[in-house]
Amino acid sequence: MNILVVGGAGYIGSHMVQELISEGFDPLVFDNLSTGHSWSVPEGRLLQGDLADRRKLREVFATHSFDAVMHFASFIQVGESVQEPLKYYQNNVANTLNLLEAMRDAEVKRFVFSSTAAVYGTPDSVPISEDSPLHPENPYGHSKLMIEQVLADCEKAWGLRSARLRYFNAAGAHPDEAIGEAHNPESHLIPIILQVALGQREFITVNGDDYPTPDGTCIRDYIHVCDLASAHTLALRSLLNGSESMVFNLGNGTGYSIQEVIEVCREVTGHPIPVKIGTRRAGDPATLVASSEKITRELGWKPRYADLRTIVETAWSWHKGGER
Ligand SMILES: NC(=O)c1ccc[n+]([C@@H]2O[C@H](COP(=O)([O-])OP(=O)(O)OC[C@H]3O[C@@H](n4cnc5c(N)ncnc54)[C@H](O)[C@@H]3O)[C@@H](O)[C@H]2O)c1
Repeated sequence: MNILVVGGAGYIGSHMVQELISEGFDPLVFDNLSTGHSWSVPEGRLLQGDLADRRKLREVFATHSFDAVMHFASFIQVGESVQEPLKYYQNNVANTLNLLEAMRDAEVKRFVFSSTAAVYGTPDSVPISEDSPLHPENPYGHSKLMIEQVLADCEKAWGLRSARLRYFNAAGAHPDEAIGEAHNPESHLIPIILQVALGQREFITVNGDDYPTPDGTCIRDYIHVCDLASAHTLALRSLLNGSESMVFNLGNGTGYSIQEVIEVCREVTGHPIPVKIGTRRAGDPATLVASSEKITRELGWKPRYADLRTIVETAWSWHKGGER
């Protein structure tokens, strides 16, 4: 089966490509390398292009036949989305419309979409289930929720079937392949902490220690990137087997505070990892923990790397490998 992986040179997309290959699919990556890396894509599988380029997209769909599209390409920084909302609506919304238009014209009707926990905003209660109220608090979250709505409308209009997967905090690295998390600039907690252990930063700044949590720091739900990928494969197979559209949360259902994550990183790296306490960041909810019961029940998803120490160990062994 031929799968177009848009954004497949990025962190999560590149792990997805490895998973697809090992599951017997034939993935082709479409990526503009704005934040992705050509070294993270197996040879011969990268088509460099931008979702803003409608002509190029038409050409890709005219010259290949795809059974489904998986869409990982977007800008991902919440803070930047507040500063530069148009940049986010342009790439995450308008450019995704280009992709959907090309799919409609080529009659490709299976779509797996990277959504986010940010569609829930500050939850009324945790763990968060898929029917919790949706009230994003920043342009990034809004841009993802808009596309979720567009997908529902395209389903009514031309029969698009989609899996909307709302990830919590992706983390870790592939235990066997030479790929891992390499955002630039890095905005994710675990790689930033590991940069301190590698001597690339002096300390880690914790944004607020006066939240209503046991140690005062924010609590988040970390999911290993390979467990994310396996969930995508289950959703993809289900769509290809004719199932209805679906929406699932993806997390482990266990929350860890920032202090706890730092402590695990200290144990794994043997480095003291100095901490400075900064002020709260606007729009950071105290606690975000997923209920992933629905995907466990409906698709039989089972995370292999649920334990935070294992997640950090896989990240550390990749980051120690040095610059690519
Ligand atoms: N990392 C997380 O913890 C997390 C959490 C929730 C949701 N998500 C979502 O998962 C997806 C992947 O995230 P990631 O961490 O792998 O990010 P990433 O930045 O590593 O990957 C995004 C990829 O998309 C490509 N891209 C961006 N705009 C493009 C365009 N216009 N045309 C072609 N390619 C383009 C980039 O070059 C990059 O390779 C994103 O949609 C993100 O919103 C990520």
